[in-house]
Amino acid sequence: MDKILINGGKPLCGEVNISGAKNAAVAIIPAALLVEGKCIIENVPDISDVDSILKMIKSLGAKVEKSDCNTVVIDSQNLTSHIADPELACKMRASYYLMGALLGRFGKAQVPPPGGCNFGTRPIDQHLKSFECLGCKVSLDETFVNIDGDELGGGNVYFDVVSVGATINAILAAVLAPGKTVLENCAKEPHVVDLANFLNSMGASVRGAGTDIIKINGVESLHGGTYSIIPDQIEAGTYMAAAIATRGNVLIKNVIPKHLEAITAKFEEMGVTIEEYDEEVRVIADKPLKSIRVKTMPYPGFPTDLQPQMVVLLATVPGTSVVNEGVWDSRFQYVTELEKMGMKIKVDGTVATIEGGTPLCPSKVCATDLRAGASMVIAALACEGTTEISQLRHIDRGYEHIVDKLLAVGADIKRIND
Ligand code: EPZ
Repeated sequence: MDKILINGGKPLCGEVNISGAKNAAVAIIPAALLVEGKCIIENVPDISDVDSILKMIKSLGAKVEKSDCNTVVIDSQNLTSHIADPELACKMRASYYLMGALLGRFGKAQVPPPGGCNFGTRPIDQHLKSFECLGCKVSLDETFVNIDGDELGGGNVYFDVVSVGATINAILAAVLAPGKTVLENCAKEPHVVDLANFLNSMGASVRGAGTDIIKINGVESLHGGTYSIIPDQIEAGTYMAAAIATRGNVLIKNVIPKHLEAITAKFEEMGVTIEEYDEEVRVIADKPLKSIRVKTMPYPGFPTDLQPQMVVLLATVPGTSVVNEGVWDSRFQYVTELEKMGMKIKVDGTVATIEGGTPLCPSKVCATDLRAGASMVIAALACEGTTEISQLRHIDRGYEHIVDKLLAVGADIKRIND
């Protein structure tokens, strides 16, 4: 079992290069199943969630080649099956994108309910509702969600909840469906826009992504091409938080500063200096920091996927901070691990109150999920002495070469096989 050992308490200084966005990649790779020609996808992060989704599309008959560790060539010409492998699908959340993609490609899909991080209930009712609004029949059996799209065509969908996954799944189902589709109350995350841009560059007609209303005119087919995935907003925010927690000075490269606005605003409110350039931001934490209140919300609000990293950062700042989780009903389960390091965090439902500035003590902690794992890395970097982090498979799902990137900014970190 691999472990990360971090001897913390040293300010991070230097440069970090941000990889392609995980949550865009895991949507764009299934979207390539809708395309008849070859798709060359660049800036794909080298992470295990990407490996899992590539395995899944290979098992359906897609040809997949990696021309380097960040470029994937997908040829779906000879796709053979509309039935997703249950063993592979239960390993990750994004397997649900095979529902929309296979439905669009074959007019039918059988996909098991998805796996992924455990934040309490994670329903997919809005995904299924969107398929029904596009004329499909949906039924569930012991293993599969079965979607029969004999009558698949354009339609109107009003999402009762703002959902990234449901918005993307509805786009995937509608792109090749005859007629016009209107989606209302859509998610506006950068990865929703990236998926729409990918599809449009292959010949689709998806308008309005990034706003509440998305309009799609079904086209007969999509052609191949080359597309480069946007930088990962959450990975960027994670390294910004690490730089601040260690009171460092780090240039975060290959980012879209607009996507970081909510994150930058909260760090500035804490007293951090952020310098913005075209594709880079510099984070300088050389002044005393203030405690703040944060509420996570769908984009353009403060992202829930940075909530654990923010909680750890605020635990290093004297005073009382409050973090309100506005997206998931149970995303503070990791706090018990942080308490082992001496953090004073009280959780009441979806609100965490952090008494910051208490001394941190090194400990053995367990990455309980992807972003919680990232928050433990930040905690260890901020804490004098050696902290040991286990269950790295969670971190490997979403952070490319995290040990190398942190070594490059001066962290005393190593990965060992115990
Ligand atoms: C995506 O999950 C991300 N995953 C999550 O990132 C992220 O936390 C989440 O969006 C919110 O930003 C991927 O992109 C693969 P949602 P998703 O549907 O699409 C409720 C990470 O760390 N809801 O936007 O599954 C739901 O319960 C991961 O990278 C319904 O009620 O999230 C939640 O409260 C973790 N019915 C809210 O909507 C539905 O049918 C938002 O969920 C769907 C969702």
